[in-house]
Amino acid sequence: MCGIVGYVGNRPATKILVEGLARLEYRGYDSAGLAVAHRKALRTTRAVGRVDDLRAAVGDDESPGRTGIAHTRWATHGEPSERNAHPHTDAAGRIAVVHNGILENADELRAKLAAEGVALRSDTDTEVLPHLVARALDGGSPSLEEAVREALRSVEGTYGLVVLDARHPEELVVARNGSPIVLGLGDGEMFVASDVAALVRHTRQVVFLADGEIATLTAAGYEGSRLGPPTTVDMDDADFDLDGHPDFLSKEIYEQPAALQRMLAGRLDARFATARLDGLHLDPRELRGIRRVTFLGCGSALYAGQIGAGLVEELARIPADAEQASEFRYRNPLVDPETLYVAVSQSGETIDTLAAVEELQRKGGRVVGVVNVIGSAIARQCGAGTFLHAGPEVSVASTKAFSSMVTSFALLALLLGRVRDLSSAHGSRLVEGLRRLPDAVETALESADEVEAVARRYADARSMFYLGRVRGAAVAREGAQKLKEISYVHAEAYAAAELKHGPLALIDAAMPSVVVIPDDELLSKNISTVEQIKARGGPVIAVTNAEIPDGLADAVIRVPRLEPELDPILLGVPLQLLAYHCARALGRDIDKPRNLAKSVTVE
Ligand code: AGP
Repeated sequence: MCGIVGYVGNRPATKILVEGLARLEYRGYDSAGLAVAHRKALRTTRAVGRVDDLRAAVGDDESPGRTGIAHTRWATHGEPSERNAHPHTDAAGRIAVVHNGILENADELRAKLAAEGVALRSDTDTEVLPHLVARALDGGSPSLEEAVREALRSVEGTYGLVVLDARHPEELVVARNGSPIVLGLGDGEMFVASDVAALVRHTRQVVFLADGEIATLTAAGYEGSRLGPPTTVDMDDADFDLDGHPDFLSKEIYEQPAALQRMLAGRLDARFATARLDGLHLDPRELRGIRRVTFLGCGSALYAGQIGAGLVEELARIPADAEQASEFRYRNPLVDPETLYVAVSQSGETIDTLAAVEELQRKGGRVVGVVNVIGSAIARQCGAGTFLHAGPEVSVASTKAFSSMVTSFALLALLLGRVRDLSSAHGSRLVEGLRRLPDAVETALESADEVEAVARRYADARSMFYLGRVRGAAVAREGAQKLKEISYVHAEAYAAAELKHGPLALIDAAMPSVVVIPDDELLSKNISTVEQIKARGGPVIAVTNAEIPDGLADAVIRVPRLEPELDPILLGVPLQLLAYHCARALGRDIDKPRNLAKSVTVE
């Protein structure tokens, strides 16, 4: 969840490191630090807060050193403070380490080091690493890489790390086990980061480390025994610019039509009224053999999976469900060889989802990924699936990736349906609907001004209900999630019919309800729900593509009608805008909400 950057080359490292950290700040942002080697000594600077605080701490007194490492932190062990910020160093100040992940036996190792007389200066698990590396070097390890190997033999847990030795500033050693590390290949310089976002300003040629790999980087290149060939990443630095928007969330919400266009490109087959998802590597016979589909994901990816399960059941008429990936491996799941498991993740690095994939594979389950980030751990572990091509999603709150996930599930459901009983006429209707989806999302975004006015009216609420039935239920869950995470207003999502089984007691003039009302066979039921809330004095914000009676709700936000199966995508758009404008009205830090990080690589 933290960000790592490293540089070895011929340019002063500090500026490159700080710029790289700024690109990674969305991964963690409670403290930051860097260490640069110069004249056989390290200059280490650390600061609580944002990368700008680190920039200020460095000031004009920049080290001329040309090798360095840096880190932006999301605290796991120890409060956010300068002494807990990375890099951590050994007692002599020779070895510096930046680390993502969690060392599970850190307490034991800390106790051992303390018993040997080592004075530990932080509360972190990471700090054991520089001490262990230094001990290995003192004990005669022939190289930094060997010393890192030896140190890593004593640790249990996950890591993506970079190690710098002040006495050998011509090299960096990197290692990965469970936390991403990617090398960037420059001309006479090498970069390393936990995320390509920090690299694309300098190079698009990258090498992703696999778990268990260790490599040594010098200005001339890299060496590692099991490294794969370089790949070219399909993004550039401009993808990480605000492009005139006040924040990334706004940019990403408005990028949805283009993101969906990319997701759909080459995947609609009008001739056979079906979808093409070649990355699944499943032929029609195998597709027909699938008896169940289970989506696995966390947070918004889970809610997207819940919508996907509804689509698969509706269109393919096979059972489908969505599970919290975080619970999956701990409940000793029954893994069925005839089920298609779909691991859903924007980042492709969420540790809970990755662990669910590994558990499934251990038990012989067939799992494919639906992932945005190419080269990510889940994409690689699955080896088959669908890339979202939504482009980099920087804001912590997922928007365009969420819509792209749901769109990809509509494609999957269509494909599974068409090898079964879904008629060609129904298939054609969906293909046409999907083709028109990006434009319809563009139209849904036109509700922004109205939504902003609604947000101003209700942003002061202490809590809100989000209600929906069937197609609207997971939309409501995702809407509540968005509001909670970026505006810090409590929100609870309920299946609308459940309201009267308890939560209706909470309804009063201070508790607004957002009711998702698709134009479907449940319209009259949803209208009754609104009436029940109104009868108890509760304000209602209706989000709908149906004709509803005038004056029924206190505010009505309309989205275009397309195909009913695609309603969840369109009805979700105003809920993103509502959360966004509530957060703005409340002055929140939209892209970096407190306590959160973009990809959750710790349990
Ligand atoms: C989404 O707005 C959240 N930030 C969060 O729930 C997220 O969807 C979840 O952590 C899963 O992330 P992933 O898609 O990268 O796996």
